[in-house]
Amino acid sequence: MKKYNFDEIIDRRGTDCFKWDALPSMYGRDDLLPMWVADMDFRSPDFVMDAIRKRCDHDVLGYTMPSKSYWNAVAGWLEKHYGIVLGEEREHYEELHFIPGIVAGIAYALLCLTQHGDKVMVTTPVYPPFLNLPKESQRTLVCSPLKIENGRFAIDFDDFEQKIDGCKLFIMSNPHNPAGTVWGAEVLRRIAEICERHNVIVISDEIHADLTLHGHKHVSYSTVSDKAKNHSITFMAPSKTFNIAGLGSSVCYIANRDLRKRFFGWLDALGVAGGNIFAFTAAEAAFAEGNEWLSQMLDYLKGNVQTLKTFVDEKMPQVKVVLPEASYLAWLDFAACGYEHKTLADKLINEAMVALNDGTTFGGDAYKCCFRMNLGCPKALLVEGLEKIRRVL
Ligand SMILES: Cc1ncc(COP(=O)(O)O)c(C=O)c1O
Repeated sequence: MKKYNFDEIIDRRGTDCFKWDALPSMYGRDDLLPMWVADMDFRSPDFVMDAIRKRCDHDVLGYTMPSKSYWNAVAGWLEKHYGIVLGEEREHYEELHFIPGIVAGIAYALLCLTQHGDKVMVTTPVYPPFLNLPKESQRTLVCSPLKIENGRFAIDFDDFEQKIDGCKLFIMSNPHNPAGTVWGAEVLRRIAEICERHNVIVISDEIHADLTLHGHKHVSYSTVSDKAKNHSITFMAPSKTFNIAGLGSSVCYIANRDLRKRFFGWLDALGVAGGNIFAFTAAEAAFAEGNEWLSQMLDYLKGNVQTLKTFVDEKMPQVKVVLPEASYLAWLDFAACGYEHKTLADKLINEAMVALNDGTTFGGDAYKCCFRMNLGCPKALLVEGLEKIRRVL
């Protein structure tokens, strides 16, 4: 069995990588330790790189299409890991569609399924594009704030049910970004009951699904009930799982035939079905060969989550942390440190010299004492970042 080395520090600067090379444009300086954008500083898996190199042996890069073996790898992954079993159209993978990215997929769904002014619901704090997409497309954004219960995010169902009335869509991060909350089957079933009653289509963004930690188990929304299956659009991707986000390779699953006809017809009209050569090649290799790499990588991430927890408990107890149950993002609340938002942000950037994601971008002023930290890096970098923060608090 091959042992992968996640301690290796790889210099990503100068590769047009957003996390490191966009620091000057996003934070005004290039000497920060980036712990923001949600990709990992680990080497992308060797079997994915090999598949891409092999495809490059052929010198024509003309139009492409998803192959049967690509669909087999995708469908196999969904069935094995999440119990998503394709129906009678299994032969032709009609319930699945390629999409170049999940943010794009959500945008396509918004444009296809809602009109100007329609109400679209999210639960905050949440991944910023969930807020920006409805706003920028002139939909009416409705936010239901999450509660913190026993150190984890939870849905405030009274607020949720009251606000969902009149909404056309609910966009859900499952697991939840910014803090990797794994919604259990019971919560998802309750969401499905409410959304069905209010005639709401649910978009379940499951990009972090493969990264569950510490015994948590991802439940795919469509599998919790017939109602959920019938009124949902599920997005999945190998991009976070295998650190190949730069390839733009995601998939959409819809069980409901009418919804599928409408949305997939729109995707085909937009011309996104053709995908791109490396997106298909990489996803197929990842899904077909990725189990061992993923399991070792998750063990490493668990170690990083533990490192964060121990560090905060022992050296920064004034910082409250929501630890991820899935993925590599943690939510840090600095309220007890007593700084104004601007001072806090300035301290982190210009004194600690770390780049975190500002909490306000996840839902406004309610989160002005919070920052999201990316733990998807070699442990040495994580500890370096934590030390830098501790010194300035
Ligand atoms: C919940 C969620 N959805 C979507 C994305 C981005 O997906 P894509 O790169 O496929 O657009 C991210 C990236 O951080 C995310 O956390």
